[in-house]
Amino acid sequence: MEFSVKSGNPEKQRSACVVVGVFDRRKLSSAARVLDKASGGALSTILRRGDMDGEKGQTLWLYNLPNTLCERVLLVGCGKERDFDEPAFRSVIATVAQTVNKSGAVEAVNYLTDLPVKGRDTLWKISQAVTITQDSLYSFQQLKSKKEDTQRPLKRIILSVPSRSDLLPGEEAVRVATAISVGTKLTRDLANLPGNICNPTYLAEQALQLKKTYKGLKVEVLEEADMEKLGMGALLSVSRGSEQPAKLITLEYRGGKKDAKPVVLVGKGITFDTGGISLKPGAEMDEMKFDMCGAASVLGVMKAVAEMMLPINLVGVVAAAENMPDGKATRPGDVVTSMSGQTIEILNTDAEGRLVLCDALSYVERFDPDVVIDIATLTGACIIALGHQATGLLSNHSPLANDLLGAGKQSYDRAWELPLWDEYQEQLKSNFADMANIGGRPAGTITAACFLSRFTKKYKWAHLDIAGVAWKSGKEKGATGRPVPLLMQYLLNKAA
Ligand code: BES
Ligand code: MN
Ligand code: ZN
Repeated sequence: MEFSVKSGNPEKQRSACVVVGVFDRRKLSSAARVLDKASGGALSTILRRGDMDGEKGQTLWLYNLPNTLCERVLLVGCGKERDFDEPAFRSVIATVAQTVNKSGAVEAVNYLTDLPVKGRDTLWKISQAVTITQDSLYSFQQLKSKKEDTQRPLKRIILSVPSRSDLLPGEEAVRVATAISVGTKLTRDLANLPGNICNPTYLAEQALQLKKTYKGLKVEVLEEADMEKLGMGALLSVSRGSEQPAKLITLEYRGGKKDAKPVVLVGKGITFDTGGISLKPGAEMDEMKFDMCGAASVLGVMKAVAEMMLPINLVGVVAAAENMPDGKATRPGDVVTSMSGQTIEILNTDAEGRLVLCDALSYVERFDPDVVIDIATLTGACIIALGHQATGLLSNHSPLANDLLGAGKQSYDRAWELPLWDEYQEQLKSNFADMANIGGRPAGTITAACFLSRFTKKYKWAHLDIAGVAWKSGKEKGATGRPVPLLMQYLLNKAA
């Protein structure tokens, strides 16, 4: 899909399609009013007949509107004007993408970016329009023998900006948002691939593939023997029961000042999580192929950043392993020594994410990080706490937490903070090692973060638990690409 920006009147657009909004109770948006006037009131006449009253999500196609140069007009219901907020804007943009894509029009000029959204400017609307359109036209067809392709798919969207002076910044917003979409697509594609294809080796190959495309990227892959030498007993305890060797993948992008400390992202890359010897129940276990969504978001962000050539220094680390039960697998009760020297009693082999992350978090000290952010589908408890709306955020540094919360609000890929109080640490006490890898039923997301916090004392750190947001279940089963938009907004703010 190609995007561009334009300022000008809707009746003058020589295009396959012009899209304008209608608010509830048939209230015309300003672009619709202009069209109505140009066409001698044709629009209001049609609306008066009752085909559409402007309810959110309604659509109505009009052909041969008098005195216009376009082939068709799409009216889009936007709901009550005073309730037109971010989710309303996002949902009408998605409706337009779906509807126009199915219509046979290969191009559309979209005036919905003119609609006022409280507290949001034109550039926000442009960038959201680009990412939401790409997101809602995404489909995962790689593994189908017959592709379900749209006949004449939408190819070009022209987004309206109020004035000429908005053109240049608008184009820049399109460029940035397009890069974010490219990154998000990679995240979704990798996450949607099943465990028999996307294993740790596959993730490492994908990282090397990125290096081929983007000359600015450096990639290093550590093998199990390398990790052995580094003393990564926690990470290696997870892959022990799998035929697939673990990989520790590092990607480095240096777009910022030479001496600027890098932002470091660490992704949980469990390419399939059976639970290990603490085997998970069978229902919906297939969804544990998504247990590498943290890793996929790190790769997606690296790609987006390299694509847009963001002036920032960034390191991405992926801790990739498969959690399987077999004769060599770790047993409940086993004690392992992490790279930090701290010993861990593995009371539950299904709490494996923290085991791969803790060694990766010790490993990244070598990059002298500005901040470290880990991204992980870490706990089912996070879904109980926050559902499928918010990413769980826990941090040892409140300015960093606030920056991430702010980036989440800006991008509308939101996070919510949970406390990381010392009192919770007690739940990790072990009689046999420095700590246990589980903290009991209460506050499972917090005790998981408490566990990680014991390995992140040397730097500013935030943990994003994306268990509830990284994928959807049910009929729409599939990866969402979250929290790539949040992370990209954080990095954009940092680079500015
Ligand atoms: N990958 C899971 C967490 C998860 C489960 C995410 C379901 C999304 C949906 C993680 O490895 C895990 O199994 N966590 C356990 C921890 C428990 C054993 C302390 C959990 O959440 O049940
Ligand atoms: Mn698990
Ligand atoms: Zn897991």
